[in-house]
Amino acid sequence: MCGIIGYIGNRQATPILIGGLRKLEYRGYDSAGVSVIDPSSGAGSRVVRCRGKLSGLEQKLVAEPAVGTVGIGHTRWATHGRPSDENSHPHKVGAISVIHNGIIENHLTLRQELASAGAKFSSETDTEIFAHLVDHALTAGAPDLVTAVRRSLQKVRGSYAFVVMSDKEPGTLVAAKNSSPLVVGLGDGENYVASDVTAILSETRKVIFIEEGEMVVVTRDAVTITDFDGNVHKREPKIITWSALQAEKGGFKHYMLKEIHEQPRAVADTLVGRVDLENDDVLLDGIELDVKSIKRIIFIACGTSFHASLVGEFLIEALARIPVEVDVASEFRYRDPIIGKGDLVVAVSQSGETLDTMEAIREAKKKGAKVLAISNVLEASIPRLADYAFYTHAGPEIGVASTKAFTTQLVGMALLAIYLGRRTGTLKPEKARELLAELVALPQKLRDVVESGAQIQAIARRYGNATGFLFLGRGAQYPIALEGALKLKEISYIHAEGYPAGEMKHGPIALIDEHLPVVVLAPRGPSYEKTVSNLAEVRARQGKVIAIASRGDNEIGSHSDDVIVVPDVALELQPIVTVLPLQMLSYYVADFKGTDIDQPRNLAKSVTVE
Ligand code: F6R
Repeated sequence: MCGIIGYIGNRQATPILIGGLRKLEYRGYDSAGVSVIDPSSGAGSRVVRCRGKLSGLEQKLVAEPAVGTVGIGHTRWATHGRPSDENSHPHKVGAISVIHNGIIENHLTLRQELASAGAKFSSETDTEIFAHLVDHALTAGAPDLVTAVRRSLQKVRGSYAFVVMSDKEPGTLVAAKNSSPLVVGLGDGENYVASDVTAILSETRKVIFIEEGEMVVVTRDAVTITDFDGNVHKREPKIITWSALQAEKGGFKHYMLKEIHEQPRAVADTLVGRVDLENDDVLLDGIELDVKSIKRIIFIACGTSFHASLVGEFLIEALARIPVEVDVASEFRYRDPIIGKGDLVVAVSQSGETLDTMEAIREAKKKGAKVLAISNVLEASIPRLADYAFYTHAGPEIGVASTKAFTTQLVGMALLAIYLGRRTGTLKPEKARELLAELVALPQKLRDVVESGAQIQAIARRYGNATGFLFLGRGAQYPIALEGALKLKEISYIHAEGYPAGEMKHGPIALIDEHLPVVVLAPRGPSYEKTVSNLAEVRARQGKVIAIASRGDNEIGSHSDDVIVVPDVALELQPIVTVLPLQMLSYYVADFKGTDIDQPRNLAKSVTVE
């Protein structure tokens, strides 16, 4: 995710902005920039931006110093528009400088409207649109910056934290928040605004967290919070007692736990601009697939992304009735696959850099297939190599074990399946509408699941000394069983296996005794009864059963030692809710064992070797 900092006071802003951005570097970024005003000079702000690391920006600032006591700074992690100097923030239009975290959902429509009104764009970003809107509102008669920002906010949909500055009102920073974090730091004759407390912790510990749908006007001596209609919200500041490292982790003990908790927001960001409820359809960022010509879809991926692909197989076959195969990328590339025109290869990779997947794409392209990449990192090697790219927008993931990148891949699979199903004609508008409405409601349901941490932590403590775990599931829950086992292995170093529940009797049943915890994915659905029978078979052999079940299931408790409840969602979307308790179980088991959760031994975040 991008990083935001703003300063208004009596000291030079640039070193404070750069210092704040350095504190946000750990989150990952591809470009950076500042806009700084010297209110005493009467000259406008100086914008200095640069693709690449902060050190590059600092070098540029030596040649083009940005002098002044008011400024905004940003580290960008590209979502709309490739990483480049022009696409870096701040964006300046007329007297207005803007920095932005998040995604403006209706940016294409706004861009067209602004272009017809004569606006000229100098970047490919959604953010620049907001600078034009504010500039336009002022030209159209808004009396001041605050009013112009308020009017512009009424036009944008999506997730955002904006900070806006005007050369004409250098004593004011105006910020607004919807779904992206924003915090104000209070100083003595100086104030700050930032996306995270980490950025300002070395300057002040007195902060006010801005809430959804709020605007804040920050001057040297005052901070005024209002809603978007201008009604004042009074809020007392808080004193932050976190250490700098705790603050980086948002107060969570590990990045992995923070990222587990970020999943509701990450899923909402994956959906931004893609759900077309008016037409019961999905918009795929301008990707136009010739769906009628697709005879087969082949997923290629590794590890966690392979598990997401297995869920993709289930969804696409169910909703679009196109045959799907799923292959581990390192196997695909060496087995001389039979593939050609009429095949759509979908390469799934959170990092977008996995060498095995990249080589598999080359093999597929050589044989004439079209390739769609699903990636979390804009302009990474895999989406660049593919014919089409779909980005999951989960934000950078720092914990090596993938969590939010996985759930957002699952959301991507659901969107792709609906898109395909609407075009093959196998998915009726009513069913598409139901699934899309459920997708939109998902973030709130995921919030409910992440709040069940205390129960899962207690279960993890009870089974934390086990030497092995079994994970069972049927249908689309089978890949989730595989994912649960992989997560546990990766971070707790406990051996675990994922199995289709119906396969248990063909071998793994021999392992079951009173020492083996068995996690059974048993949400409501067509295979519920059969899964409950498997669970009873485990119980009959003294195995310990941890069931993941739908809310309101009063039966399953009598067959299980522990039940973790998840909200009811459509069958097709169940994997997105059932995987969360498994991520949390692995996390708490590993925490109980005291392993290095964010950097487990022998593992890397991006595997660029064979
Ligand atoms: C597990 C994990 C790995 C990756 C795998 C592929 O938590 O993250 O299994 O999924 O190395 O990586 P990507 O998705 O970047 O291609």
